[in-house]
Amino acid sequence: MSQDSVVLDDDGAVAPELPPDPSRRFWVGTACAVGGVAGVATAVPFVSTFAPSAKARAAGAPVEVDLSGIAPGEMRTVEWRGKPVWILHRTPEQIEGLKKTDALVADPNSDRPGYTPEYAKNEYRSRKPEFFVCVGICTHLGCSPTPHFEAAPNLGLNEGGFVCPCHGSTFDLAGRVYRNKPAPDNLEVPPYQYLSDTRIIVGVDEDNKA
Ligand code: FES
Repeated sequence: MSQDSVVLDDDGAVAPELPPDPSRRFWVGTACAVGGVAGVATAVPFVSTFAPSAKARAAGAPVEVDLSGIAPGEMRTVEWRGKPVWILHRTPEQIEGLKKTDALVADPNSDRPGYTPEYAKNEYRSRKPEFFVCVGICTHLGCSPTPHFEAAPNLGLNEGGFVCPCHGSTFDLAGRVYRNKPAPDNLEVPPYQYLSDTRIIVGVDEDNKA
């Protein structure tokens, strides 16, 4: 672990710094982002919210997350560089459901540049199938989508997914955008790596020297 790392415990996420690109932060203040976060609190099992301290924000450090407190079907949100980062513990059923959305999403193999590191260019868009890590900001105009972990056929999400409240973009549980939606790309997978079987660090990718 780097000396600059911020350790998170199960009582709440400690968040680092303001981001280097302020344009990526406006989700914090937008009405749609507020609605999205509120939706998280009511629609899904929610482990913790971000609770940034001024000191941590100033540090600009990577964020360490203990995965052992995130049960299957639950999602934790932490803040990294001013952005919400989701860590979703997918159930076996949710992992299996990704196969059914392959034909419905715009970029099933994450071939488009940006947004997906090499290690996440697989059908799960993650280092390990069970834990999905992504930046919870829509690639259209920056709202924060709302999770729907149960089937939501009225939204076109038979396998669950995420819905952006702004203009209706929908994403599957690997953050892959459905076809013919305003969002041009899949949700961003940030740099992260495993420190052990139960801990990850967001903001570090030794493979790519991030
Ligand atoms: S910001 Fe998400 S669809 Fe427009």
